[in-house]
Amino acid sequence: MTEKNERAAHVLLAVCGGIAAYKACEVLRGLQKAGCDVRVTMTEDATRFVGATTFEALSGAPVATSLYGHPGTPIPHVELARWADAAVVVPATANVLAKMAHGIADDCLSTTLLACWGCCPVLVAPGMNVHMWQSPATLANVATLCERGVWVIGPDSGHLACGEDDTGKLAAVDEIVAVTVAALHRDFRERPLVHDLAGREIVITAGPTHEAIDPVRYIANASTGKMGFALAQVARARGAIVRLVAGPCSLATPSGTLRTDVTSAAEMHLVATRAFEHADAAICCAAVADYTPVAPADHKLKKAAEHLDAIELTETKDILADLCARKGERVVVGFAAETNDLLAHASEKLRRKGADLIVANDVSRPESTFGADTNRVALVSAGGVEQLETLPLPAVADAILDRVAALLPQE
Ligand code: CTP
Repeated sequence: MTEKNERAAHVLLAVCGGIAAYKACEVLRGLQKAGCDVRVTMTEDATRFVGATTFEALSGAPVATSLYGHPGTPIPHVELARWADAAVVVPATANVLAKMAHGIADDCLSTTLLACWGCCPVLVAPGMNVHMWQSPATLANVATLCERGVWVIGPDSGHLACGEDDTGKLAAVDEIVAVTVAALHRDFRERPLVHDLAGREIVITAGPTHEAIDPVRYIANASTGKMGFALAQVARARGAIVRLVAGPCSLATPSGTLRTDVTSAAEMHLVATRAFEHADAAICCAAVADYTPVAPADHKLKKAAEHLDAIELTETKDILADLCARKGERVVVGFAAETNDLLAHASEKLRRKGADLIVANDVSRPESTFGADTNRVALVSAGGVEQLETLPLPAVADAILDRVAALLPQE
């Protein structure tokens, strides 16, 4: 084990002067809950929104707001860059994005971010007014940062502090934490952050399906959608255009994804096959019901009047198999959630469905069961089996997307 693996991951949180600065407090807490040790640098403007004392109390460490007079070191920017395993800018303002793109280092935060270059992965979560976000200058700066291997998280669309409903909202706290966790699990020297999915369209099915018995009752399963949503979050950070086909679940839409909510296996089949028409890849992560009631009642069944002894079921269409049948050179990944003979079942599914890759997990184990924040998967392909260790879901998603990226035909 390396020294890094034996201790908590170090995250440098760089807080800029935007109204969303208050959400950086929650990001800090989320990173701590994910097991990270967090230190903070802020711009002078950021301290007008949230005091440094707040971040000092939350992080348990001095906050770097100036290059001068920092307790314990005359070079806080270099010390922090050396200390960090990842740096995340929350909210990334138009001004700080511009400085990062142009190498301007005129305060503690921008100097520290410049010093991070080549030392650790850098992520930015922009938050600003829609016109500032959509200005050619900001878009060009963001494109430059992407080319240099910065992961961009969001921005989201929604109600902005300036009163407009549009793009520019800081991504959800959970999403910022999840993508940062994915970045931390990459070996930065071997696997720097990449935008290898830029422009690639990926369909992701996620969550359970509900098969109606009557208008208020249905057959479902224990899937929460967390794995599929983590795939969507990390695929976005890597530049993909994500079409998320989500069964009933209560998770927030990852910023920038094109989400369609569906209920039944039949609806998911229709939406996913249509979405796949122009896509480069599909990842069938949903726990689709294998059977559905043949004749769901059009009214609520009354137990006294309509005694129900049995429900006649019929098999649903297999989305994964259908996408594989029409995939050509495109990439299709399936999942196999099993409780026994994991690799045998996964290999059989790989062959029977014609997928490029099956992600197999043992749902009888607590670290890889439905609803867990971790997963322990084996990647099963024609080339063999790769068993991964137990990892947080975003890191599992990142590993799966590595395989997808490698399988995609070069453009
Ligand atoms: N799948 C699908 N459409 C279905 C059923 C499953 O797309 N109607 C996909 C799932 O998203 C997953 C994979 O197929 O990627 C799971 O394979 P499947 O054989 O259906 O697994 P189980 O539902 O567990 O069924 P089995 O009893 O054969 O193990």
